[in-house]
Amino acid sequence: MNILNHTSFDCIKTKASELIGDTPMLELARTGTGSRLLLKLEQFNPTGSCKVRMAREMIMAAEREGKLKPGGHIVEPTSGNTGTGLALVALERGYTFTAVVDHHASRDKLRAMKAMGANLIFVEGNGNGPSTVQRRRMAEEIVAETGAFWPDQHHNPNNNRGYTGLAEELLRDTGTDIDYLVGAVGTGGTLCGTVKALRTMGSRVTSIGVEPTGSIIFGGPAGKYWQTGAGAPGGFTVGPNVDHTLIDEGLTVDDVDAFSAARVIARRTGLLIGGTAGAAIHVAMKRMALIEPNSTMVVLVCDAGEKYLDSVYDDDWLKERNLLDEAKHMGVDSLFDAYRESIRLSVAPSLTAGAMA
Ligand SMILES: Cc1ncc(COP(=O)(O)O)c(C=O)c1O
Repeated sequence: MNILNHTSFDCIKTKASELIGDTPMLELARTGTGSRLLLKLEQFNPTGSCKVRMAREMIMAAEREGKLKPGGHIVEPTSGNTGTGLALVALERGYTFTAVVDHHASRDKLRAMKAMGANLIFVEGNGNGPSTVQRRRMAEEIVAETGAFWPDQHHNPNNNRGYTGLAEELLRDTGTDIDYLVGAVGTGGTLCGTVKALRTMGSRVTSIGVEPTGSIIFGGPAGKYWQTGAGAPGGFTVGPNVDHTLIDEGLTVDDVDAFSAARVIARRTGLLIGGTAGAAIHVAMKRMALIEPNSTMVVLVCDAGEKYLDSVYDDDWLKERNLLDEAKHMGVDSLFDAYRESIRLSVAPSLTAGAMA
């Protein structure tokens, strides 16, 4: 082969935002009844999260609608992943970006935003979880004072629209319908946006939303949680991007189960995923045993575990919060073994028949 004959350089991009999308999938488990559990690995987007998809969509729409002028100022309250996405799009398109954050956020997300030139404004919370209410109040004040553009991820329909490409990739890359889609819910954009686009394309997907125990999106009592990005704390008014007509089932997962699942995935696959993806995988691994044969279940992995090396993947951090539970690790681990065993049992009769023929 003459390498000089290769004249197509489409794979070489000139901007980091052109690297958004086309994220890979990994088969995490398979059952003896032919069902597959696939992970959509959104940490392979620039900024290490799916949220850069919607950050780009919100900014492009604001430009089209004349809400953002050249050299403009963007402000958004964020737990970090929306913020890193906005920081990337802002720097490419010549805007300044101010992220309103709190100390519940992962330190690495805050550092990443700063590294990309974002201004960070901190609000204090009550220490019981993310300061979502206080962050919004501060963003409102900044907008009132400076006239900055606030995309408002909880109310902006372009958040959800930003996931149309993700839905197309799922159908293209699996070559089949997605029977179950499991994803963590915060603003609702990732799960509801993907489900809406899938159904528009004819999918009959069943959707399962997951939030931290203590979050109030699906109606449970408010409490403290350490998962960051997903969920909404007590006192927060959930926005319309959580479209309950697109979520067939809403479940809560506590921090111990979420973080145990993430840590087991790290040990089994070598891939580090975030805590909210751990929560979704916890749900999916249990549900796999109950679904119809030959189903395809996909978990949306929202972000990379490298952002949580000093929390989810730090034994001391977990111990200080009473969140390290080896028995839970073993529980998740044993599910993998159970599925492998179910495959062995399902192929055993045909092997036996073959041997006897
Ligand atoms: C780590 C993580 N998981 C889940 C979510 C929830 O995604 P969405 O806001 O699209 O519902 C977010 C949102 O920021 C996140 O950062």
